[in-house]
Amino acid sequence: MAKKSKEKGGFLTDIETLRRRAREHIEAGAVTPGYRADRDTVTRILNEALATEIVCVLRYKRHHFMATGINAQSVAQEFLQHANEEQMHADQIAARIVQLGGEPNFSPEGLATRSHAEYVEGDTLVDMIKEDLVAERIAIDSYREMISYLGNDDPTTRRMLEGILAMEEEHADDLASLLEELGA
Ligand SMILES: [Fe+2]
Ligand SMILES: [Fe+2]
Repeated sequence: MAKKSKEKGGFLTDIETLRRRAREHIEAGAVTPGYRADRDTVTRILNEALATEIVCVLRYKRHHFMATGINAQSVAQEFLQHANEEQMHADQIAARIVQLGGEPNFSPEGLATRSHAEYVEGDTLVDMIKEDLVAERIAIDSYREMISYLGNDDPTTRRMLEGILAMEEEHADDLASLLEELGA
């Protein structure tokens, strides 16, 4: 246990200890000895999340280009917006994996297996929206689990995932509204 500062109420590490620890293992970059989570586990679950986001980008892109019918224009736009936002999530996650000293897995080999959500093409506009909603609901549950697993052990990753989770909830809500508008 590190020496605690008395002046700061006893819960903060004293400045000399902080400075000394920061100088040790500088090759670890943003990961300091105070990092409490298990880095291998965190990078593994982040790589699963990365695969999920990539599969979601691919599925939304397919749906964007395949949307046809009377309501297709606005729905296709929604699919495109979601695709772009899932791409943003993938990028955020990959950057965090690197910050943690890991390597983001972009390999197409095994991508669908690593992903939590599935790649389902869907035949009609309504089918596509339903499949996207199912995928969003899977993402919502898995992000929620990751967030509670991390707790206070890695607040930066947790906050990133909380931001992504909030957007997946918006996506799910958008899709549910579309289904309602289409009377499905
Ligand atoms: Fe996403
Ligand atoms: Fe989403």
